[in-house]
Amino acid sequence: MSAPTSTNNLLEIEQLSVCFGGLQALDRVNLSINEGEILGLIGPNGAGKTTLFNVITGLTAPSHGKLRWQGNSLAGKKPEQICRLGLARTFQNLRLFRELSCINNLQVAMGSNNRRAALELLALVQLQEKADAAAASLAYGDQRKLEFARALATKPKLLLLDEAAAGMNPIEKQDLQALVQRVRCQFKITILIIEHHVPLMMQLCDRLAVLNFGRCIALGSPEQVRRDPLVIEAYLGSQR
Ligand SMILES: Nc1ncnc2c1ncn2[C@@H]1O[C@H](COP(=O)(O)OP(=O)(O)OP(=O)(O)O)[C@@H](O)[C@H]1O
Ligand SMILES: [Mg+2]
Repeated sequence: MSAPTSTNNLLEIEQLSVCFGGLQALDRVNLSINEGEILGLIGPNGAGKTTLFNVITGLTAPSHGKLRWQGNSLAGKKPEQICRLGLARTFQNLRLFRELSCINNLQVAMGSNNRRAALELLALVQLQEKADAAAASLAYGDQRKLEFARALATKPKLLLLDEAAAGMNPIEKQDLQALVQRVRCQFKITILIIEHHVPLMMQLCDRLAVLNFGRCIALGSPEQVRRDPLVIEAYLGSQR
């Protein structure tokens, strides 16, 4: 295991803003991600959640603000460099190699053709029987699980999951919750997860951050966030 950092902040996000033309997708967001935690990101459609992932993973340049990974600036780093530093993600709109088999998808991410290691990861997400099936042939929920395994295949320290349970049935959602918890313990990783299913997030996450119109309007334990009047007004209220 690597030596613990002086603080347990893995990623620090400071005064981060992103403008797309006249649209302020992120507005002075401050957020620290602690090593080992499951931090949830919730908020209405268009709140800026995916944009935050895109900035963290180097796909979108911030208009203002700083990102520090284990104390070092991420400014100007390319997505591949950021991935090599130990940040991996899944995409809201899946980005699998659709014609490749499940196992090949993992081997590409691992940068090796070690079949046994890839099979172990497939077993973790209960897809070992689909090892040689084309990714595109899987049911939608299984494709999400394959993306999850593929992100893990890069051996990240921080795993970012965008709409992890979208399109999953209630049983798959339960399984996913257990899987995220198991992966956190087994791989000793930190998880930042976006998901609209609030009850799942309340159970799964150590802390929740709430975005609304690009601003972080609340940050705290699920219980604190659930009771926050700003959150109820902006988001939870509309969900009953
Ligand atoms: N590349 C882009 N160019 C212009 N506008 C963009 C771009 N990406 C995102 N936006 C806009 O920025 C805002 C935030 O979008 P984002 O995708 O981050 O929201 P989100 O919180 O992930 O929403 P959802 O829950 O629907 O996935 C939206 O208004 C979106 O239309
Ligand atoms: Mg999104």
